[in-house]
Amino acid sequence: MEISQSRDIIRLEDIVKKYYIGTENELEVLHGVSLSVRQGEFAGIVGESGSGKSTLMNVIGLLDRPTSGRYYIQDVDVSGMRDDDLSAIRNHQIGFVFQTYNLIARTTALDNVAMPMLYAGVPLRERRERAQELLEMVGMADRMSHDPSELSGGQKQRVAIARAMANRPAIILADEPTGALDSQTSRTVMDIFHRLHEEQGSTILMITHSQILSEECSRILMLEDGRITGERRGQHAR
Ligand SMILES: Nc1ncnc2c1ncn2[C@@H]1O[C@H](COP(=O)(O)OP(=O)(O)O)[C@@H](O)[C@H]1O
Ligand SMILES: [Mg+2]
Repeated sequence: MEISQSRDIIRLEDIVKKYYIGTENELEVLHGVSLSVRQGEFAGIVGESGSGKSTLMNVIGLLDRPTSGRYYIQDVDVSGMRDDDLSAIRNHQIGFVFQTYNLIARTTALDNVAMPMLYAGVPLRERRERAQELLEMVGMADRMSHDPSELSGGQKQRVAIARAMANRPAIILADEPTGALDSQTSRTVMDIFHRLHEEQGSTILMITHSQILSEECSRILMLEDGRITGERRGQHAR
């Protein structure tokens, strides 16, 4: 018997997101977004400020629920799942990288990276070993015992990327990951994403307002006023 399995890591069908539902000033931000990201892809969503990128990222990252539409993660329909099931999927399947790093203050780089593994029930020794490996991978081996307040923006983002990788997620979601960084530091961070994509086969979805950065992805989806209006191949298309 042949088992057909899609290689879609995520698939959104007709996702609508409204705020202030049922009130006079009801605001529809996503107007029926359909998209998929395939295994091993470095996909980009590019759109201007206010186009709905973060709203879409929150839906994809299971941080917020769509008003309607279907959402599948590795062919599992997560649209109607309970909050605690969603949290478990979020912890295991999705690695987040945010513009503002969102590291935990007064906590070492090593413990920041180990944290998602703690929640996943990974034993202490394994947590420490993997956190060390990940920090080495992003070039932060010599900063493992530093707190976020002792790190530069670019260094914080490298720690955040290591943390995003901790539970070997099916997909890394990055929302404006270089938005707060200067161009040279942005380059370092983008190069880490390329390495993860090329050497580890990681699946990455990066959201950005930058046309230039989006060109570096393998496939680019255009988001305009809450609608996907087109897609094209990027420099790293295979
Ligand atoms: N929690 C919210 N409540 C109400 N409106 C929101 C909320 N989040 C975002 N919006 C509105 O949705 C639109 C898209 O915002 P956002 O998704 O943050 O866009 P982007 O990330 O592309 O700049 C904006 O008009 C914004 O004001
Ligand atoms: Mg945003």
